[in-house]
Amino acid sequence: MTESQNSRALWESADVVVLGAGPAGLVLGTLLHTAGIDCVILERASRTQVQTRARAGFLAPNTVRILERHGLADGLHRHGSRHGTCEFRTEDGRFRLDYGGLGQGGQHHVYPQQNLVTDLLTHYLDLGGRIRFHTEAQAVHDADGAEPSVMTREPDGRPTRWAARYVAGCDGRHGAARRSLPPSAVRRHRRDHGVTWLGLLAEAPPSLDAVGYAIHDRGFAGHMARTPEVTRYYLQWQRGTAADAWSEERIWDELDVRVRACDHGPLRRGGILERAVFDLTCDVIEPLRHGSLFLAGDAASLLAPAAAKGANLAVLEAEVLAEALTDAIARGDTAGLDRYSEQCLAHIWRAQEFTGWMTRLLHGPAGRDEDGGSHFDTALQRSRLASLRTSRVHQDWFAENYVGV
Ligand code: APR
Repeated sequence: MTESQNSRALWESADVVVLGAGPAGLVLGTLLHTAGIDCVILERASRTQVQTRARAGFLAPNTVRILERHGLADGLHRHGSRHGTCEFRTEDGRFRLDYGGLGQGGQHHVYPQQNLVTDLLTHYLDLGGRIRFHTEAQAVHDADGAEPSVMTREPDGRPTRWAARYVAGCDGRHGAARRSLPPSAVRRHRRDHGVTWLGLLAEAPPSLDAVGYAIHDRGFAGHMARTPEVTRYYLQWQRGTAADAWSEERIWDELDVRVRACDHGPLRRGGILERAVFDLTCDVIEPLRHGSLFLAGDAASLLAPAAAKGANLAVLEAEVLAEALTDAIARGDTAGLDRYSEQCLAHIWRAQEFTGWMTRLLHGPAGRDEDGGSHFDTALQRSRLASLRTSRVHQDWFAENYVGV
């Protein structure tokens, strides 16, 4: 920060500065505030944007337990629904997996993330929690020194410097926390699954009473209920093609082909509210701590959406970090902070492993074998599906990992 910036900067402070008001930042801020810890959440977006962003919506049993433990689950119990079945559709027919009744898994709660985030934010504000919207963190300074601080830009453009004892980076994969990590201090493990999806939000009631995974020579198609009126669909998509390249009718026709509507009945159509194209990539930052700076949620690791684990990991990491920061600040016990990275990385790598397996299960050949064909990968995919269809042990393993976090 230049001298002139320093001199013009407003000065603020908090024991913990949390960057980002997504699931990770809001759960962390709420737990810290409830524990009497002086914290503030700095969020670059507006309150409306934060509360209306449609993102994930499948909450694992462990996530529900965490939210219940802290009195944050009322909304999802009142307005959410439970889901415990997957339906796979392939050229060999369709089969259903009642994962809610298998293994040690349990069912998902389906509750749109924007509703959960609105509940969390309302609760945090009702408690008197501090949050600054329209406040973008620019950089975290001196994270491994004696005076950590966060430089932000206020809505009027003025720089502000937040002095902090600890900084929690919950600002996603492109946030200031990641940008502030010295390249020599961390390792970033990245994987591109070689697959691209067109994500759709349709104003149409769900067409299945299950999470639908359709595997077709033309590509994958996915169906996930969000509410009784809105359904999320995914189409495996040609990388480099724009989201608006196809008409709504062409999209619905392609979805019908891939879900084999001719055998199982057509999908219930409606207007497409949102479209987004994204590559199925994932990454993990190691370690998750750099001095007084801690990463949680997407800032810590990004998962491909095939198994809907991102928001669930974010909530888990937020609870672990909240407990560790409270012990350190309220009781001077830093053991939790010292083991935070290793403890959460174990959960992250297990989620990455299953998500990678699920991504390969749902998509055709990624590679090419020596004769230029892709038969080997296709045969592997069919074998995995056959095992999942017929082996109870494999189904128990699937159930435990599908909902486990
Ligand atoms: N300064 C302040 N806020 C920022 C900055 C910044 N420089 N950069 C990003 N943010 C904010 C974003 O506006 C967003 O509100 O950080 C928040 C990050 O929230 P999420 O992206 O939801 O990330 P996280 O809380 O880690 O949740 C991760 O939830 O969104 C789902 O499934 C999705 O895996 C994802 C999971």
